[in-house]
Amino acid sequence: MPYLQLFVSQVWSAYRWAATALTTLLVVTYFGPLLYLSWAPRRDLRRRYFADLSAQTSLQARATPAKASNMARNHKALRARKKGAVEESRSAPSIPKSALNEARLERARSATAEPWALVTGASSGIGLAIVREVAQQGINVVLVARDDALLPKALDQLRAEFPERSFRVVATDLSETMPPRDKIDGKSEATPNYLAEIEEATADLFAAGTIRLIFSNAGYLLMSFYWQRSLSEQMRNWECNITAALRLTHFVLGQWAKHQRAALKRDDDRRGSNAAAFGLLAFTSSSSFFLPSPFATLYGAEKAALTSFAQSLAVEVRDLGVDVLVVHPSYTRTNLYANQPKLAILEFLDRFTGASPGYVAASIMRAVGRGLVVRDIGFYSYLTRWVNHVVDIGLLSSLIVLCRHLVPEYRQFRADADASLHSS
Ligand SMILES: NC(=O)c1ccc[n+]([C@@H]2O[C@H](COP(=O)([O-])OP(=O)(O)OC[C@H]3O[C@@H](n4cnc5c(N)ncnc54)[C@H](OP(=O)(O)O)[C@@H]3O)[C@@H](O)[C@H]2O)c1
Repeated sequence: MPYLQLFVSQVWSAYRWAATALTTLLVVTYFGPLLYLSWAPRRDLRRRYFADLSAQTSLQARATPAKASNMARNHKALRARKKGAVEESRSAPSIPKSALNEARLERARSATAEPWALVTGASSGIGLAIVREVAQQGINVVLVARDDALLPKALDQLRAEFPERSFRVVATDLSETMPPRDKIDGKSEATPNYLAEIEEATADLFAAGTIRLIFSNAGYLLMSFYWQRSLSEQMRNWECNITAALRLTHFVLGQWAKHQRAALKRDDDRRGSNAAAFGLLAFTSSSSFFLPSPFATLYGAEKAALTSFAQSLAVEVRDLGVDVLVVHPSYTRTNLYANQPKLAILEFLDRFTGASPGYVAASIMRAVGRGLVVRDIGFYSYLTRWVNHVVDIGLLSSLIVLCRHLVPEYRQFRADADASLHSS
């Protein structure tokens, strides 16, 4: 008997020691980086990703004073020509065509010599806040969003706030999988319209190697039982929330790899080394998949796929000098929920933990390029991540199924589903 008592007390003290050590490890490895990131300053994007570009531009400026003065002359001539446009036929001294072409070319060249970023879902919410953060750091932005009223409004605001910056717009629907008409020949790979449009709008920037920050952020939410909505509606959502990010990433990495190879061949760059940072791929995922997310089943699956993709990709692209960051914002006050059922849980989160898009964007800027691939943002993300750590997810899933009738939202969606079954 005393041997048994001794054995039990030994096992118990070993268990207590192991449990304390593991919990401490979890707390430190999770909250340590979070604490650090909440105090860390925003990343200097130009310094991390465009340092070689600034050096090149200033070198070029020093090396070609004659060309610069030619340019200034051409611009002067152009301005004069614009001013005198009305009386052109009477007075305008004719400007040689070559000068006009050179000025036009030079304008295009100077745009491609500047640093650029691309943000999808840039017309509102978190995406628009990311654009502001990036523009504030002196970086031009390609905005991608649907062709609706939000986009011109956002563009007007941005132009007023950042008159020095250039913005390009790709007004396109990321849920639209149709290839451009001229590509439907049965032979070429079916590139959807939106990707063809993005490729076209950024071709010169990729060729120049000056577009180096990609934020795959666009997304929207469909709330219902999964089977209640048509499959085509769900698949469009899948295209926008996950496939579009995968396609865009594939295109971008192809372009960057080309640029890196060319740079290595010229031997004027040290790309390919672990230290150099050439580009950033950032993904806006969500904590919605930390726990089962009924009524937003597809959304949870899309975000889980996006996070998993980003985590593995981060390893593959590091030697290309590419940082990958995937973020999990908690409830953020944006248009995401505008046309969705007003669930009590969402209203609760909105009231007590709702963050502003600006806060999320600033948190992203603090996390960028610090070696961390995954960043949870906000209370709900921290909480659900911890529930996941503490209780087995398999058990949790079973418990949620068992308790479904206790949840008023479940009863509401169930009633809606029953009503639609009866009416059909
Ligand atoms: N708000 C939250 O609580 C929360 C939490 C975690 C993660 N997120 C994620 O954060 C990202 C941004 O959402 P948000 O909260 O900022 O919502 P938002 O204000 O509605 O912004 C979504 C952006 O995506 C664009 N977009 C939506 N559907 C599109 C489509 N088919 N094609 C092209 N662009 C499209 C929207 O522009 P148009 O509608 O004008 O096209 C808008 O610019 C999403 O991926 C979302 O899943 C949000």
